[in-house]
Amino acid sequence: MAVTVIVGAQWGDEGKGKLTDLLAAGADVVVRYQGGNNAGHTVVVDQEEYKLHLIPSGILYPETLCIMGDGTVIDPECLAQEYDGLTRRGISCDNLRISGNAHVIMPYHRLLDALQEDARGAASIGTTRRGIGPAYTDKTARDPIPVRMWDLLDKRLLRRRVEGQLAEKNTLLRTLYDAEPLEVEPIVEEVWGYAQGVAKHVCDTRALLFERIAAGDDIVMEGAQGTFLDLDYGTYPFVTSSHPVAGGACLGTGLGPTAIDSVLLVTKTYTTRVGSGPFPTEQDNEIGNLIRERGREYGTTTGRPRRCGWLDGVALKTAVRINGATSLGLTLLDVLDGLETVNVCTAYEIDGHRHIVVPSDASRLSEATPIYREMPGWCCDTTQVRKYEDLPQAARDYVSLLEEIAGVPASIVSVGPGREQTIRRGPL
Ligand code: IMP
Repeated sequence: MAVTVIVGAQWGDEGKGKLTDLLAAGADVVVRYQGGNNAGHTVVVDQEEYKLHLIPSGILYPETLCIMGDGTVIDPECLAQEYDGLTRRGISCDNLRISGNAHVIMPYHRLLDALQEDARGAASIGTTRRGIGPAYTDKTARDPIPVRMWDLLDKRLLRRRVEGQLAEKNTLLRTLYDAEPLEVEPIVEEVWGYAQGVAKHVCDTRALLFERIAAGDDIVMEGAQGTFLDLDYGTYPFVTSSHPVAGGACLGTGLGPTAIDSVLLVTKTYTTRVGSGPFPTEQDNEIGNLIRERGREYGTTTGRPRRCGWLDGVALKTAVRINGATSLGLTLLDVLDGLETVNVCTAYEIDGHRHIVVPSDASRLSEATPIYREMPGWCCDTTQVRKYEDLPQAARDYVSLLEEIAGVPASIVSVGPGREQTIRRGPL
């Protein structure tokens, strides 16, 4: 039995989906513990591409139990579409279980997310506009009681919740945004309609996990977004509203910290970011464009071009500590294949002081000057390599440098999107 958490080291989009898919092959249970359809995973199986936003990528394995934990937020429309889409392609969703405690993203959350972002103007966070922030805001506000997945099992209860919410939301819409008020009944009908196909999967997922742990199952906990989008440990306020870090896996499922055996920290061999916020190693130039095109760095969820830059070793070292990482999963090594030299940031200089971990006041990050170590590139194709020793020496030196900075070994190196384009090196 082992419980492994897969967590992003950067600002999301590190390739966690591929590694989750890989580990799901040997797992009994895959759990998502936070976030909602702001995430996007692309998994390629036998040349077939699957884009998943909500449902854990373990769903592609018929025997694997897939859980959406208490800490997630669920948009019933997105869930219904994803569920139907998978079923139409012959993928059974029978093994999906959804926590009744997960909060529901309602149409008014999406609307508010968009209105709030527009009102911020140039100071916008660059959210995915999927209603994530407003849904988590209501969760922490507690009153009026928001809609949770349990409430989608009882139409009268759902109506009562929506009535309570709209009494408040309509005041907000009218007074703050000069927007039309919303009506209860169309929202209840819409959400109720989407919930019908998936309601049978709603249950007490915490009890289920306790049972599976007791039975000795192998469990993979799949984080969405990344360490520096964490509400507390990210580059606040340019963060998401949940806890992508490994600690979030406990909060979002009900398992205690000692249940976790290993934490696989997934990092690209370079860095990307979508949305606003500081990004010290950003290359808003030819290098950034080259990485974007070679790495197909456009958002799975929003299609936005991602900001691209060199690997930030300061952020990597910090992420190892925040997450208690036991090993690294290095992704997209092949994207750097054509470069003559490759840079890695090993320290920041802020106000004449050198920093080797990210300062907790994220506003200082925008003043950071990265200090780089230049490494020779390998200028050859690595996409066909299957054994670590067959990688060119310069690529292995690059991996060794990242391991040295992180202080933990790279247990997985990925050289392309396919399942077979993966080099396994050691324990997670
Ligand atoms: P929200 O999660 O939609 O509220 O967006 C907050 C910030 O997190 C924005 O900068 C988004 O671009 C970013 N974000 C949210 N989800 C993802 C993701 O899955 N990958 C990368 N960035 C994300």
